[in-house]
Amino acid sequence: MRVFVTGASGWIGSAVVDDLLATGHEVTGLARSDKSAAALEAKGAQVRRGDLDDLEGIRAGAAAAEAVIHLANKHDFVNPAVSSAAERAAVQTIGEALEGSGRPLLLASGIAGMTKGRPATEADASPFHGPDSPRGGSENLALEFADRGVHPVSLRFSPTVHGTGDHGFIAVLTAIAREKGVAGYPGDGTNRWAAVHVTDAARLVTLGLEKAPAGSRLHAVAEEGVPTREIAEAIGRAYNLPVASIPAEEVPDHYGWIGAFFAMDLAATSIQTRELLGWTPGGLTLIEDINTGAYGSSTAG
Ligand SMILES: NC(=O)c1ccc[n+]([C@@H]2O[C@H](COP(=O)([O-])OP(=O)(O)OC[C@H]3O[C@@H](n4cnc5c(N)ncnc54)[C@H](OP(=O)(O)O)[C@@H]3O)[C@@H](O)[C@H]2O)c1
Repeated sequence: MRVFVTGASGWIGSAVVDDLLATGHEVTGLARSDKSAAALEAKGAQVRRGDLDDLEGIRAGAAAAEAVIHLANKHDFVNPAVSSAAERAAVQTIGEALEGSGRPLLLASGIAGMTKGRPATEADASPFHGPDSPRGGSENLALEFADRGVHPVSLRFSPTVHGTGDHGFIAVLTAIAREKGVAGYPGDGTNRWAAVHVTDAARLVTLGLEKAPAGSRLHAVAEEGVPTREIAEAIGRAYNLPVASIPAEEVPDHYGWIGAFFAMDLAATSIQTRELLGWTPGGLTLIEDINTGAYGSSTAG
């Protein structure tokens, strides 16, 4: 398929582009810089220059493709409303561009908010609706386009999509641990994070493009939940740091914006996704990845 990928130069997007090209798809990646454009071209992808805020460009990219995989995100964790607004506008624009075509629209989402005192499953609908909700309510917005002749599929990524080169949450936690001289975990450290290796996540995206029915919620989850205490212990071992509990009242100061995420229980299963797609994740586990020193270059800030 000819696939338009936003966020094609990002951590997950780069792996997705590799997997799509390796399996015979054609890729046009959205790139907002020369560096991102050059990286995509070097892989054999086409480039559409543009920014998430250039909605006409997004519309044109989507209209010219046989499928869209939307992974770009501004990731303004300090002012999340900025990211949410851009996310909602982009999904609305892509959905309208694909209206009546029956073409796939896969979009990135997450696990946060889906758990209900137990690991989230694919059957758990997102409680987020409307522009003021997390991620701008984009999962529900996209899935509603099923009634308008679009083939939407939600890609719910584990809170950590890990591997060598990851600059996401585990890299930030590692940098904080090294800066503070302690690998901390929130409270008693029993809250858990689902995890998936980036190559497994990319495989799932391609399989989802090829096989998932409209309206699917796919869980890119290889490990149902790794206790945050075990994550901190692995970071401590890897960087020779003491490991300690951070009391709940100190979490915001100690971790900054990421504290609210690290204190959440973000466990999820992927039984339905595995059955639906025949997806069998086989990459390193999160702890194995941290043990390899994958986060060795993480620096604070
Ligand atoms: N990584 C995870 O563990 C994780 C977990 C759950 C959900 N997710 C979601 O999965 C998606 C991909 O995440 P990721 O980890 O791959 O993110 P990432 O590495 O930060 O990549 C973000 C991508 O978005 C692009 N981008 C950012 N602002 C843009 C703008 N204004 N205009 C155009 N492009 C822009 C970036 O382009 P440049 O290369 O030019 O910066 C990059 O390609 C996101 O929606 C994220 O929230 C990720």
